Amino acid sequence: MPTIALKTSHNDPELKQKQTWFSQQPGCNWLTDITKQNENLFPSLKITRKGVYLNDGGQNLHFHPSMTLLRIMNIYKGNSDRYLIATGLKSGDTLLDLTMGLGNDALVGAWAVGEQGKVIGVEYSPVICALVSDGLQSLASNHVPKSKNPDKNRAWETLSLAAARIKVTWSDHNSFLCRQPSASADVVFFDPMFRYTPRKSASIKPLYSWSNLQSLRIEVIHESCRVARRCVVLKERKGSSEFSRLGFDILSGGKYSQVDYGLIMV
Ligand SMILES: C[S@@+](CC[C@H](N)C(=O)[O-])C[C@H]1O[C@@H](n2cnc3c(N)ncnc32)[C@H](O)[C@@H]1O
Repeated sequence: MPTIALKTSHNDPELKQKQTWFSQQPGCNWLTDITKQNENLFPSLKITRKGVYLNDGGQNLHFHPSMTLLRIMNIYKGNSDRYLIATGLKSGDTLLDLTMGLGNDALVGAWAVGEQGKVIGVEYSPVICALVSDGLQSLASNHVPKSKNPDKNRAWETLSLAAARIKVTWSDHNSFLCRQPSASADVVFFDPMFRYTPRKSASIKPLYSWSNLQSLRIEVIHESCRVARRCVVLKERKGSSEFSRLGFDILSGGKYSQVDYGLIMV
């Protein structure tokens, strides 16, 4: 269980309330009694007026759905989104995002399934889980920037509504799947860390040090096929042998992209 020093930048009641909320999240040993002797011994989670920052050796991990905002703005402009094509998500669907990370894909999925739909995000790392849960709660309570650009404001509003639809669960996806009834979700989605290397992308580095880096197990895919009513989708590095190892058909498209989507129709 990781020990994480829990700090606030100011004594605001709102920040203190957040600190209490974090200290109650399972899976981490939250250290609130910070002294001169121990203050630099552990990674820290700093709650500030601008957001919550997980700091480990100078690297910050922070929930900020800026890429998702751009994706939603692009979708509103009529551009296609490969994730939505691969998953085929539509209004009223239930989506299981079993490698939730910081929730960017889950947010786009929550937009697609709409008010009648349901999204459950499962994350292995307790601290990432706490960070994304807090970020989604803030987003859902409309703590969003205001812009002069009406398209941006519309996309923020969309994300705020979508965030409220996502239920976040701290679990290993295999044990989570074993507890689910058969044919209980329309789409099961995976975006594992396996394809990333810390050298490749500076933005992925902080996530890399906290997340589960293991490749997907074939039993997990078998369980996913039992739980999915329509399809199981895998996002992986272009040309990855993971698609054939796990039995996915690669979808065409994304000529210039570094990732591909694989599909198993059940
Ligand atoms: C590449 S990130 C996902 C990014 C996400 N799709 C997004 O749009 O923000 C992969 C995440 O899956 C999580 N993960 C890996 N193995 C897992 C498992 N067995 N159970 C649950 N989560 C897992 C990792 O901890 C990591 O946070």
